[in-house]
Amino acid sequence: MTSEHNKEIDESKQGEAVLLEGTSNGNGKKLYVESYGCAMNFSDSEVVASIMAKEGYSTTRNVDEADVVLINTCSIRENAETRVRTRLGDLKQKKKNNPDLVIGILGCMAERLKKSLLDEEKLVDLIAGPDAYRDLPNLVEEVGTGQKAVNVLLSRDETYADISPVRLDQGGVSAFVSITRGCDNMCSFCVVPFTRGRERSRDPKTIVQECQDLFDKGYREVTLLGQNVDSYRWNLTSKGEIKDSAESTTNFAELMEMVAHVSPELRVRFSTSHPKDMTDDVLEVMAKYENICSNIHLPVQSGNSAVLERMNRGYSREWYLNRIEAIRRIVPNCGISTDIISGFCGETDEEHNDTLTLLDEVVFDFAYMYKYSERPKTLAERRFTDDISEEIKGKRLAEIVEKQREHAHICNLKQVGQIEKVLIEGFSKKSQEHMCGRNGKNSMIVFPKGDFNKGQYVMVKITSCTSATLLGEVVEVCATH
Ligand code: 5AD
Ligand code: SF4
Repeated sequence: MTSEHNKEIDESKQGEAVLLEGTSNGNGKKLYVESYGCAMNFSDSEVVASIMAKEGYSTTRNVDEADVVLINTCSIRENAETRVRTRLGDLKQKKKNNPDLVIGILGCMAERLKKSLLDEEKLVDLIAGPDAYRDLPNLVEEVGTGQKAVNVLLSRDETYADISPVRLDQGGVSAFVSITRGCDNMCSFCVVPFTRGRERSRDPKTIVQECQDLFDKGYREVTLLGQNVDSYRWNLTSKGEIKDSAESTTNFAELMEMVAHVSPELRVRFSTSHPKDMTDDVLEVMAKYENICSNIHLPVQSGNSAVLERMNRGYSREWYLNRIEAIRRIVPNCGISTDIISGFCGETDEEHNDTLTLLDEVVFDFAYMYKYSERPKTLAERRFTDDISEEIKGKRLAEIVEKQREHAHICNLKQVGQIEKVLIEGFSKKSQEHMCGRNGKNSMIVFPKGDFNKGQYVMVKITSCTSATLLGEVVEVCATH
């Protein structure tokens, strides 16, 4: 899964084509969009589909019938970019068969490589950075006149707040809603501040309206997305002037409360939290509302304070453990997940060992684990040497993964015997005889399909587990209000 660190998208869905809800007044042209990386990218593709739908494009899942192919890319690690280049290789033959086919690169790779991507990948016609999607219809038109088209301008205020995203292939139950764009943190390993620009928050009224619309259409879960949701801050007064006072400011805790009021039957999730900014008032709001899921994604990156300092994360091991203690105290039984990087610049065996002991102290429900991958232009590339060999990075990563696998199993075993409220997402991946859904903690639970439907809430008794999944049976269907 993603960029930055929005929760990443299920590996099986990476690259998958997105499907547009029926469009009328079409121009007969078809758009095929493929997304890589984080939830924010998948959410942006829905904005792109909406912008193109206004021009009459309908989307297709079949790349062979497309007039325009847009690849929404990720730059977070080198292998994310390699994957996109391999995919572009596959598209070469299609372009040969249909020279009018427009191929565009969107997202972080477009922003990072800009025009040079046109020289490197000859078949690409169009490059659009994350803040340039409103310009896509013009860019496509420009390509129609035989030119290459590029817009990689970053904006200080673009949030696409007024665009109602076309929901793509999430089964009609759960949707992403972006609340901030960009990031001002400058973690030294991270390319995101360069590819997505300065942090800006979206008007809370438009966020609540979007969540209400989703609920009215039958959605039962929203995930509020931002690179660092805790720094969400809107300070526009009703008169429209910017004024920074407590009365005129909406912070993340307040925004979450506003979204929780849309309906007690709309579950609210959010991602990603930053340990340096996660405040107790957010935790208190979580504890207050049953429909705000007890789940926090809190990337730690390393368990060693000196490494955290080199990473420019703005907190120490002790601070992080204090935040974990606050979560456990204020939101008992909260699911906690994290991101970890192995083999950052200069990481010693002892520093790596601190990551392992932190894992033991916290026992995370879930973790995304990566080898450090140096990214051009980042602070780490300029200041430090990427001096840990691939072999050692791999060995350390394997130790982290093995420990986390044991911990996930322990966390799942603790849930066996419990009865959990589950929102049904659809059939299980492996069998049409089973349905699946998540509990508040975000654990996936699989159970016999019975007469149940996606979008329904059921109480499920958990009967057994693996380190990845819980198995159970429905003991009660929840009444709707
Ligand atoms: N190398 C490895 N992992 C990285 N991440 C971000 N940048 C890098 C990098 N250069 C990881 C972090 C972040 C997650 C989305 O990706 O753990 O939280
Ligand atoms: Fe997340 Fe830090 Fe990258 Fe911002 S700079 S996206 S906080 S890892």
